[in-house]
Amino acid sequence: MLRIGALVSGGGTNLQAVMNAIDSGLIPDAEISIVISNKKNAFALERATNAGIENVVIQRKNFSKSEDFDRALADELRSRNVELILLAGFMSILGPSFFEHYENRVMNIHPALIPAFSGPGYYGLKVHEAVLEYGCKISGASVHFVTPEVDAGPLILQKAVVVESGDTAEILQKRIMEEAEWQIYPEAVRLFALGKLRVDGHQVIIKK
Ligand code: GAR
Repeated sequence: MLRIGALVSGGGTNLQAVMNAIDSGLIPDAEISIVISNKKNAFALERATNAGIENVVIQRKNFSKSEDFDRALADELRSRNVELILLAGFMSILGPSFFEHYENRVMNIHPALIPAFSGPGYYGLKVHEAVLEYGCKISGASVHFVTPEVDAGPLILQKAVVVESGDTAEILQKRIMEEAEWQIYPEAVRLFALGKLRVDGHQVIIKK
């Protein structure tokens, strides 16, 4: 049984997509063991409660140093023997020490085609605002393994989505979630659960 921990900050639709894929059997032999939010009002917590998944709030403001916040998150995950960590709309940057025990075991979903519109400052609606301002005709989503450099780890899956004329950031965000994020995040977790992902340098090889 693959034990998964999810870190969230907001609505939790990507968390929901992964929970649904586990429930439907698309992701075999896996469970979400813990959901951790750094925001106490995150709707993702309600989703976890509704699914009977243990959930806790750990807020950065309660720690004087960010390393202590990172350690509290890692301790919570380690105490549940989590083997895969999903950043699912988690809007806080983790320090290098967090990854020591979890090399190639932390995934993130980013709402653009990395390396475009990624890195510090590009999160949530800001990504889509920047895509529209630039005049891109295509955007999309990317799932990658997380390394200490923001949004720069090995790419696992990407999916392109068309930008339509008249799109607002909110409309584009919704289309990218529906057409890309909620599909490629569960698929990446499925491939991990089946042992089909191998990291070679900056490349992720997907075994047949
Ligand atoms: C998603 O669009 C996700 O890709 C993005 O925030 C949204 C969270 O929605 N994540 C980032 O921008 C991370 N840099 P959700 O809480 O409904 O999954």
